[in-house]
Parts: sequence; structure tokens; C-alpha cells
Amino acid sequence: MKRMRLGVLGSGKGSNFRAIADAIGRGEIAADVRVVISDVATAGILELARSRGLRAEFVEPGRFKTKLEPEAERRVVELLQGAGVEWVVLAGYMRMIKPPLLAAFPRRIINIHPSLLPAFPGLEAWRQALAAGAPETGCTVHYVDEGMDTGEIIAQRAVPVLAGDTPETLHARIQVAEHALYPEVLAGLARQQV
Ligand code: GRF
Repeated sequence: MKRMRLGVLGSGKGSNFRAIADAIGRGEIAADVRVVISDVATAGILELARSRGLRAEFVEPGRFKTKLEPEAERRVVELLQGAGVEWVVLAGYMRMIKPPLLAAFPRRIINIHPSLLPAFPGLEAWRQALAAGAPETGCTVHYVDEGMDTGEIIAQRAVPVLAGDTPETLHARIQVAEHALYPEVLAGLARQQV
């Protein structure tokens, strides 16, 4: 059976990457992670990748906060293509994706966002949900386009907001849902590819 070749981009601790790698290890997703790339040299996701014997690459992001320097984004494309990647999985990657990367992987870049989009796009969506008094929130896996968290939705999972929730308790509950949903979506995409 043909296995999906994944490239993972992340800026943080990498718990979604870990959930995906664990599901692959259990044989639940017909996929292989070919390379993990971060814009943060000290990101936990790179450590996690190395500890699993996977290729881990830091790319110096350049001058901007919300996107990569075009040169750096072209370097990311080179790394992904060089590793034979077909699908790009954003797992806590904190920058916008720009045309060099979008054009290289049309409809092959997916992201997980910690809200039920289109509600609460952007940063710290769990804080936004709490501040808005929403009775529930959740997480969304979606295709990535040029907008911020605007691409076509693939799947969502709802999570209740409970009395007494703090941003931390709510985010932790959303992350439990993320760690189930992201591997499930990838397993489904891998089956469709066969
Ligand atoms: C997750 O909450 C995800 O929804 C958001 O960034 C966070 C990443 O967490 N895009 P981790 O690095 O996977 O632990």
C-alpha cells in the first residue's frame, strides 16, 4: 500500500506532532514523516523529531514576526521537496503561509486550529472563546490558503467550556481533542489516497 509522505512544520512543543507520530507508530495512519521543520531553533517539536530518529531542520525565519522571509520560505520548500514530501502538516506553526509554499503544495497543506472555525481565528483562540462566553469551542482541521485560518474545513471536534475554566484548563481540554482529531483526519486522507 502506498504511504503518504508527510512534512511537518511547527514552532512549539509539538504535542500534535507526537500524537500523529504515535498513531503512525501504531499502524493507524499509512504515512511516514519525512522531515520536521521549525522556525524556532529550540522548539520542542525538533527535539521530539530527533528523539524518534526523524530528520529535524531549523530554518532561520528572518526579519518578520508573522511570516517567513521569502528566502526562508523557499528554503522550506526545498527541504520539503528534497525529502519527497507530498502533504504538509502544520502542527503549531505560528506564521502565515505565503505563495512560494502554497504554490508548491496546492491543496496539500493542512492545519489544526484550536476553535470551531470560522469562530475565533487567529492567536490564542481558547482565550477568545472564554472572553466571548461561548458555551462550547473545539478544534478544526482545515486546508491552508492565504488567509488566516480561512481555508476549507475538513473536520471539527467540539469541546465544552466548563464553569471555572481558565485559559489553561480550556486549552488543555481542546488539545486532548486535537490529539484525537488530527491523526484521524490524516488516516482518512491516507485511505483516500490509495
Ligand atoms: C495547538 O493548540 C494548535 O491548535 C495550534 O497551536 C497549538 C500547537 O500545540 N495551532 P503543539 O505544539 O502541537 O503542542
